[in-house]
Amino acid sequence: MASRSLGLASKLTSFSKNNFISSSDLNSDQIFSLFELAKQLKIGDRRIDLGNRVLGLIFKKASTRTRVSFQVAMARLGGQTVDLNPQITQLGRGEPIKDTARVLSRYCDALAIRTFSQKELEEYAYWSTIPVINALTDLEHPCQALADYLTIQEKFGTLKGINLSYIGDGNNVAHSLMICGAMLGVNVKVCSPTGFEPDSQIVNKAKSLSEFGSKISICNDPSKAVKEAQVIYTDVWASMGQEEEHLNRKEIFEKYKVDQKLIRIANEDVVILHCLPAHRGEEITEEALESQNSHVFDQAENRLHVQQALLAVQLGGL
Ligand code: CP
Ligand code: NVA
Repeated sequence: MASRSLGLASKLTSFSKNNFISSSDLNSDQIFSLFELAKQLKIGDRRIDLGNRVLGLIFKKASTRTRVSFQVAMARLGGQTVDLNPQITQLGRGEPIKDTARVLSRYCDALAIRTFSQKELEEYAYWSTIPVINALTDLEHPCQALADYLTIQEKFGTLKGINLSYIGDGNNVAHSLMICGAMLGVNVKVCSPTGFEPDSQIVNKAKSLSEFGSKISICNDPSKAVKEAQVIYTDVWASMGQEEEHLNRKEIFEKYKVDQKLIRIANEDVVILHCLPAHRGEEITEEALESQNSHVFDQAENRLHVQQALLAVQLGGL
């Protein structure tokens, strides 16, 4: 146990004090080690007490899983969180990020930020002297991808060579799944309606980060996309901030619904994942979400374990 912990520590301490604003901020070795640590924390094989550290939460969008899992993770590490909701801070009255970030760096030990633009997050990271964590932007959701791949690793015992088909909008969740999956050896196929494919720069970035023979591909036909799938993943058709496009998207995405018909094309034991919250009857049917193949609540639980591991590393707890 002691030598196992030492091995993990030597791989992860290089990430101490680092930002996590994109899935590509961790390399594959660090991610696999982080998963080891998350599993130790999950089964109670390891306890880490950071001692009174404080994580600031700046959330410009709604959240259940991300907010609460960060709060519980900090509590389990012996620390706490402070809510820095823009409506109750001077941020809401226009105080610039460069001032806010420098002030909060004097009070907090890390910041988890959920906002719209990745540029804004990068500005926080630039001015902060403490680690900044992406709690979701329009471009990426890297903490989600960590929990997703930890869940897949638990289900299959490996990640290398696993075929994941993401059906739906080429959004933040799809982007982080591609980048993180490429580094971990997962074959990630993203299947979206024409015009709703993932950002081409992200696709190229993911391809350039491919390891262990991982293949990253884009397509438009859901029934072809799920043929060899071991994992089918979906997310909402209209993300936060796109509410006014919801009705229009419902028509465009109708063929991209994860239902029993689509699931039957895939492997019998296919694992169904969804980052949640789900819009039942839209991107996924009630039947599919509640089926034996669905592991969405194990997936949601892993947000806690993987973020606890991430915070322990970033805050120098190893
Ligand atoms: N999956 C996820 O990030 O959920 P929340 O929006 O509830 O945080
Ligand atoms: N793509 C979704 C994910 C929610 C967790 C959104 O950005 O709203």
